Amino acid sequence: MTSIACKAGESEARRTLVAGLATLLVVAILSGCDSTSGPGTPPGSDPNPPPGSVQLERAPYLQLLGERSVIVAFRTTEAASAVVEYGPTPGFGQSVTSAVGTHHAVEIDGLAPGQRYYYKVRAGTTTLAGDATHFFETDAGRADSEFSFFVTGDIGQPGGEQATTGSRILATQPRAEIGLICGDVIYPDGESSGYDENLMQPWAGLLRNVAVWPALGNHDWHVDPDLNFRAEWYLPGNEHYYSFDRGNTHFIALDTRDGDIYDAANQVAWLRADLEANRDATWTVAYYHHPGYTCTYKDYNDAVIATLHPVLDEFAVDVVFMGHAHTYERLYPIRSGQVVAREQEPNYQDPAGTVYVVTGAGAKTNSSTTPDCDINALAIDRTILFTHVTVRGRTLELRTIESATGTVRDRMTITKTQ
Ligand SMILES: [Fe+2]
Repeated sequence: MTSIACKAGESEARRTLVAGLATLLVVAILSGCDSTSGPGTPPGSDPNPPPGSVQLERAPYLQLLGERSVIVAFRTTEAASAVVEYGPTPGFGQSVTSAVGTHHAVEIDGLAPGQRYYYKVRAGTTTLAGDATHFFETDAGRADSEFSFFVTGDIGQPGGEQATTGSRILATQPRAEIGLICGDVIYPDGESSGYDENLMQPWAGLLRNVAVWPALGNHDWHVDPDLNFRAEWYLPGNEHYYSFDRGNTHFIALDTRDGDIYDAANQVAWLRADLEANRDATWTVAYYHHPGYTCTYKDYNDAVIATLHPVLDEFAVDVVFMGHAHTYERLYPIRSGQVVAREQEPNYQDPAGTVYVVTGAGAKTNSSTTPDCDINALAIDRTILFTHVTVRGRTLELRTIESATGTVRDRMTITKTQ
């Protein structure tokens, strides 16, 4: 998985993104490129392959979307150099050229925050992808007044209903700018060979303009994630646990492996340091695969409760999203194992607890039901759905939406006055 990209407009930066196999580097060598808006031409590539000789094996998907940069990833049927043109209008104006290869991860940087950019991918004169639906919106930063994101889990089910969920996410307003996947990205075994059929193809229309940030689930651990999951995504740090910002919100992905905690001592130490370093975020959202407390057909996960919850409590994480159960459940705010602010349901003001949400029914459901129990505010069974969150300054609005109909089945707000 090696790709070399020459970036127009930059002359000397050299960048190494560790992604995928520890020994496989995605290298963007930003030297020897044209300094104009025209593409550079890496050695050995044919800048003008015969029309039609190169096609897309995997449609473009966005990764690492930040304030000033993004990765446009895609795969070609033949080893080739490809060009990503981009700009604030569909007229583009700037471009980056990838190295010769089939697995392309083209980094674009030097972008303006809070700006929509359109892009297209071509090989020679042949456009591989690019129309009005190929765009991304950079993060506007902490001062952003409003943004939305979607959350789902357990999504890559062979023959599942993920395409319905993807289409509904796209049709939902306000538009989700990013998405979280709470693990079990690909069934049955998290294998790289399942990504195209079970996720990249049914979600092609979504992934081209919504950057997703996946966490690992137990099925993704049926194979070595360092040889599969990490070969498919471009994520920060070690990609097992990482964080990023969007608007005034700090997001943290964690790895609960097979129900234990991956690399527990290091992961928890990292989590504490990351939370400490990001206390100034208005909102903190964590997500991982295994629920701790839950009334679904899954049991309590004692490792999550004992290892993660105390840290989430200490730093007053606002919302936690999980999957694993193919159903939906939102708990009342919880702190130190106790429900708090129950009387405010469903519009909370400064709740002294964390809201835990299981939303693992984006592609398949289970016949088991979730009982009304002492800790859940709402449960929805046997329904394909996803969760959509809009952050407007110091108010967070959560909605959970049926994929087939668009019906809003859950709505909750949290407002911060302090
Ligand atoms: Fe699972």
